[in-house]
Amino acid sequence: MRTDAPLRAVEASAIEPAPGAVVRFAAVGDIHVTRASAGTLRGLFAQAGELADALLLCGDLTDYGTAEEAHVLADELAAASVPVVAVLGNHDHEAGTPEVVTGILEDAGVRVLDGGSCVIEGVGIAGTKGFAGGFGRGSLGAWGEAGIKRFVQEARDEAMKLEAALAKLRTPRRIALLHYAPVAATVQGEPPEIFAFLGSSRLEEPILRYPVDAVFHGHAHRGTPEGRTLNGVPVYNVARPLLQRTRPGEPSLRVIALPREPAPQETVAA
Ligand SMILES: [Fe+2]
Ligand SMILES: [Fe+2]
Repeated sequence: MRTDAPLRAVEASAIEPAPGAVVRFAAVGDIHVTRASAGTLRGLFAQAGELADALLLCGDLTDYGTAEEAHVLADELAAASVPVVAVLGNHDHEAGTPEVVTGILEDAGVRVLDGGSCVIEGVGIAGTKGFAGGFGRGSLGAWGEAGIKRFVQEARDEAMKLEAALAKLRTPRRIALLHYAPVAATVQGEPPEIFAFLGSSRLEEPILRYPVDAVFHGHAHRGTPEGRTLNGVPVYNVARPLLQRTRPGEPSLRVIALPREPAPQETVAA
């Protein structure tokens, strides 16, 4: 567990009017683009460019993971005037070709993270889809049938991907980008019977071991907008249906600001 207490992420509206002192991230997940979505998301993505320095997409970008849907999303994202970083969700895997969705989006300039990382204006972003398995004492254990063990191993593999991505980052500020929830707090509101399918405490473990300033995820459409990890890192559920329900009349984006850190000093050899 961390003992240092970095300045946390804050709601971007709380720090205006000094936007130059911060880096702002607009996040949304679960946009579930279909062929009928053409023309419906450009306004939202244009707003992201006005409100933030980057747009973060937390999976379930498409509804069935088809190439057609991915092309629709790529066209809509042309309205975003800022860098776009994404992870895939379970829906993006439904057609069995997530690499096709990734390729179409990357051709459109989106950085799709699957256990990788990138840096936006000095802030490191580590991302992976995540997986299910449950939280705390409700976590499924790797015991018994081979199928159960494979299921649990999938969650462990996703947690290890997040850990490896965080370990590579050398930036003073870090964001973890997920589709599945790493804590139970942000799935509250969903039927308890399906909590185990909405995320996994295994995804929280890397966030306890590496400094992280904010976590974004989606997937739990009826969850809770905000929670915290065991060590106090803010966790934002940015599933679009949840944002629409809890912030009626506002853009379905969660905009969070992190302090803009000065560029690291060059080390001059004596
Ligand atoms: Fe979704
Ligand atoms: Fe999902």
